[in-house]
Formats: sequence, structure tokens, C-alpha cells
Amino acid sequence: MTLHATAQVLGALGVCAAVTVCALYVTKSTAQNANEGRPAASNASPIYGITIPAGYRDWRLISVAHLAGGSLKQLRAQLGNDIAIKAFREGKLPFPDGAIIAALHWDEAASDENNKVLASGFPGAGLQSSVAAAAENVQFMVKDSKKYAATDGWGFADFKNGKPGDEALHKTCYPCHQPAKDRDYVFARYAPTP
Ligand code: HEC
Repeated sequence: MTLHATAQVLGALGVCAAVTVCALYVTKSTAQNANEGRPAASNASPIYGITIPAGYRDWRLISVAHLAGGSLKQLRAQLGNDIAIKAFREGKLPFPDGAIIAALHWDEAASDENNKVLASGFPGAGLQSSVAAAAENVQFMVKDSKKYAATDGWGFADFKNGKPGDEALHKTCYPCHQPAKDRDYVFARYAPTP
């Protein structure tokens, strides 16, 4: 075999190896997605492409809220990642890139268990306790002034049972946050430390 022919054979082998590795990789990632039961793309919010940030349940508390009307009764908590919490505490506006605010929403349910205890501990006070019951949804605002320049630096995402809401829902976020424009589109205020 001439030197030239040897080089050709080795080159071809290299291509084969690369093709095999690529084919294995593609097969593997397809299989992973199949295991999750849905393609990876559908885990991200439409328009903004945001997936659920890892570990958000461990973020620190910004504030809590109560929302009620008609048959709707919700308890809500706003949590922030480290960058968002720092900005809140320092009163820094606009929020820096990397800040993420999470809004966790639960159905509010009366707690008979708590009420019995309160009625015996504080007779006649008529205390009514309610607690967070079923999880309703979780929403995120992600600050990235370049990526989300068209919406003044904020990307929005809403998830129910881990699945993002549709595009129509995500079109409502930014316009409805306009009234909070002077606080960088964020309604929540940092709750005082008791
Ligand atoms: C009808 C107007 C309206 C729409 C639509 C809306 N928001 Fe909000 N959002 C609010 C108000 C008012 C608050 C503060 C009160 C509360 O939390 O209930 C809020 C709070 C939030 C918060 C907590 C931070 C903050 O600004 O206080 C996040 C995160 C959030 N919304 C994300 C979203 C996302 C994501 C969408 C779209 C899927 C969305 N919002 C759509 C009005 C709206």
C-alpha cells in the first residue's frame, strides 16, 4: 500500500468513527427525551424559551400575597434567586442581568385542624386559619437585558404541573406588568423582616 492510499484508508476510518459516535449520540439523546415522555423543546415557555430554573424552591422569600375573587382563593409567595434578593435588599433598580423572580401559587384552603386548636386556645376570638393546599402554577421573570430587549429585559414563563402555558398566555405577561414600569415591571415589594 502506498503512503497515499494508507492516508486515504485512515481518513475514511476517521470519518466512520465520527459518524458512529454522532449516530450513538443522537440515538442516546432521542432516547432520553422519549424517557421524559415529551420532546425537550416543550419544556420551555413559548416566546421566551425559559425552562424551570433548578432549585427555585430553595430560593429566599421576597413576600407573600393573597388573591381572591369569585371562586378563586389563592395564597402566593414570591421568591428570588441570590441576584434578585441582593437587588431587592439594596433597592437596586433596574434589576441586574441574572435576576430571577419566582411566583408560587397555591389554592387556599381552610384548615379545620388549625381552627380547632385556635378555638380552644383563644375561645371567642373567631380565628380562621387557612393554608396552602394544591399547587396551582409557578411563574418566573428572568432578567436578561440583551436576550429580552424587546420586553425591557424581562423574559416570562408560566408552568402548571411542570408544563409551560401556551403562547397566548405568554403574550399577556409583559403588557400587564406595565403599571409597575417604575419598579422595573416588578409588583412585589420586599416584605419587612419581622
Ligand atoms: C392581569 C395582569 C397580569 C398578567 C396577565 C400577568 N401578571 Fe404577573 N403579576 C401581576 C400582578 C398584579 C402581580 C402582583 C400581585 C400578585 O402576585 O398576585 C404579578 C406578579 C408576578 C410575579 C411576581 C413578581 C412581581 O412582579 O410582583 C411574577 C414572577 C409574574 N407576575 C409573572 C407573570 C407571568 C410569567 C405572566 C404571564 C404568563 C404574568 N405574570 C401575567 C399582574 C399580571
